[in-house]
Amino acid sequence: MSTALSRTEVYSLLSLSFACFGILINTFQGDGEPLIASIAFSGLAFASCYALIRWLGDAFVRRGFKGRDMCKLKQSEIPETMGAVCAVVYLFIIIIFIPWPFYKDIVAATSGGGNRDVMEELQQVETGRLLHKFPHSKLASYLSAVLSLQCIISLGIGDDLFDIRWRHKVLIPAVAAIPMLIVYFVDFGVTQMVVPTPLRPYLGELFDLGWLYYVYMALMSIFSANSINILAGINGIEVAQSLVIALLIVFNDALYLSPFAPYPHPATDSHLFSLYLLLPFIGVSLALLKHNWYPAKVFVGDTYCYFAGMVFAVDGILGHFSKTLILLLLPQGFNFIYSAPQLFHIVPCPRHRLPRFNARTGLLECSRVEFKKPLSRPIAEALKILHRLRLLDIETNEKGEVVSSSNFTLINLWLVWFGPMREDRLALGLLAFQTAVGFLGLFIRHRMALLVFTQDNW
Ligand code: UD1
Ligand code: MG
Repeated sequence: MSTALSRTEVYSLLSLSFACFGILINTFQGDGEPLIASIAFSGLAFASCYALIRWLGDAFVRRGFKGRDMCKLKQSEIPETMGAVCAVVYLFIIIIFIPWPFYKDIVAATSGGGNRDVMEELQQVETGRLLHKFPHSKLASYLSAVLSLQCIISLGIGDDLFDIRWRHKVLIPAVAAIPMLIVYFVDFGVTQMVVPTPLRPYLGELFDLGWLYYVYMALMSIFSANSINILAGINGIEVAQSLVIALLIVFNDALYLSPFAPYPHPATDSHLFSLYLLLPFIGVSLALLKHNWYPAKVFVGDTYCYFAGMVFAVDGILGHFSKTLILLLLPQGFNFIYSAPQLFHIVPCPRHRLPRFNARTGLLECSRVEFKKPLSRPIAEALKILHRLRLLDIETNEKGEVVSSSNFTLINLWLVWFGPMREDRLALGLLAFQTAVGFLGLFIRHRMALLVFTQDNW
């Protein structure tokens, strides 16, 4: 990979950075304008991540962080784990950003709401008498998000370094989720679910899940972090699917913040919070996608997948829209359930399940798993039914025994359905699918919700 930035790249990144700096300095003349500041910070995140990926690529390769692109004729080695660069830039940015959302409160608490010459008030702050006005709970929420993300990033880097076993890997996001679950408990504590209208005669209007709600949220973090990692293996797909999800959440947040939404809406603050976490994520992810899209010049590594999944989980839980988030993760959910037979070793699972590159045609075909030992009768029959439903592609021998099948991933299933295709077309197809399902999910959330619930909280 050429590591030096071209002249055009240098000029573009520099002008973007200067513009963002200018905007940031200007925010201090008003109330801090946190949303504007967040956009400017996201621009800076993009520029620094873009440059660092280039500059650090070779250093990563020298340390052994490299991988072979298996879907290419010439399988050259390229830097891996570049998601760690993104994750670290992201952490720095959201930490530096902390003063902005609280700027108004800091000014109010230290000088009496813009009346900066009232000096007694300042003394009162120092003796703690005005501190109760400061939104400590919001700061706690924000800090717990930072802590949870930091935790998951160290897991990701550990995994990229040492290839942690699956059964250990699965639990770590649950530990990472503890800080934000505590804050959720102390700050919000709502563990009730609104019951759909048809079930109300039996369960009442609200159903309290109690501590199970916390189990549900921990499972949500495990699912979200791992599901992105297993919908992977072709250039660009990990980052691009995360970007699609992030943009869909931003779209949903915008619905609550737009001038047409009733104001002040009780959910305004939580959707602003969601944007503060997502906009810089979009910044670093765009920089990574530029280098990871077909033909990839870097790989993202597991760090990126866990990090992205955890950003969504933290965002959904602390932003109080975890059920909407499930709707946006439906393709990942399908891939997870579809993968289950291989993940739980009901049928063999090869180390890599990414599609197979056909050197003659230059196209990707679905990869297959060979069954060396004959499968047990019920499993073989189940695979045959899936084959008939066009949900799998199996091969049988003359005795009617199943000898191989396509690997159980959405990416391979796509190839079973639509035939061999080039790597970027495959990625684009899957992304279009993700986008369509996401919009459908949001539509259901805001329109159809009225059919099963008495009101939409928008
Ligand atoms: C997960 C999947 C595995 C899939 C792999 C690909 C499960 C249980 N595991 O494993 O089936 O093969 O991701 O990322 O579903 N690579 C490419 N082209 C790409 C991306 C990756 O060839 O566009 C290869 C490279 O050799 C790279 C390696 O995949 O080095 C990275 O695999 P890794 O992320 O370590 O695999 P897992 O996350 O463990
Ligand atoms: Mg991976």
